[in-house]
Amino acid sequence: MKSVLYITANPKREEESNSLRVGRHLIETIQALHEDSKIEEIHVYQQTVPLIDGTFLKARDQLASGKDFHELLPDEQDIVRKVHRQTDQFIAADVYVFAYPLWNFGVPPMLKAYVDTIKIARKTFRYTPDGPIGLLSGKTAILIQSSGDVYSHGPLHEYEHGSCYLKSVLSFIGIDKIETVYMEGMDKDVEQRDIKRRQAFEQVDRIANNLSFQLYPCGADTAE
Ligand SMILES: Cc1cc2nc3c(=O)[nH]c(=O)nc-3n(C[C@H](O)[C@H](O)[C@H](O)COP(=O)(O)O)c2cc1C
Repeated sequence: MKSVLYITANPKREEESNSLRVGRHLIETIQALHEDSKIEEIHVYQQTVPLIDGTFLKARDQLASGKDFHELLPDEQDIVRKVHRQTDQFIAADVYVFAYPLWNFGVPPMLKAYVDTIKIARKTFRYTPDGPIGLLSGKTAILIQSSGDVYSHGPLHEYEHGSCYLKSVLSFIGIDKIETVYMEGMDKDVEQRDIKRRQAFEQVDRIANNLSFQLYPCGADTAE
């Protein structure tokens, strides 16, 4: 059984949001095509994401210098436990679906807060004498991003730090397969918006169909 983690970052209702509608369509299609897949959802605007704060940083430094978790103060243990619960849930999944709008050229702030809980040294990446290496190889991420303006070409090309940022973090922690579904210029023309959303539905259908949910035996490169 493969496990899918669906991460949304949008305070809007699902039916009012481009990214959430396309994200839901992808999740439902995955469920229909891969009945034994396990799907978990994180909605960072509906649930509390633990923030990296001073207490966490103090605890992190103590753990890095060899202190045992149980020697930490109760509030330090509490925040470490909360952050690591998010990290461990992320590590346990095989496929990640992110659905979010572009906000002020980047991802919504609660998604940034969530990303801070999955880019954790010694859990999702580690430092080696040859530089950092990601620990989550063999997994797939799908990014569904909706934006009011256009970034794939034209004057705003250099201004897109949403999918670019997520791709950097995900590849840094070792995720080698990243698919992106862009809905661009969604605030420019209502007719075009409907067409682009439909195209995004078609694109996620293709992605769901091509998702490899085959479990290969250890050491085998391909299925027979
Ligand atoms: C707070 C806020 C900031 C935004 N900033 C940008 C931006 O920097 N660039 C852009 O192209 N669109 C921006 N938009 C527009 C949204 O990205 C656009 O409406 C998108 O289609 C919304 O997706 P959704 O329907 O999934 O919420 C912003 C919208 C909001 C509410």
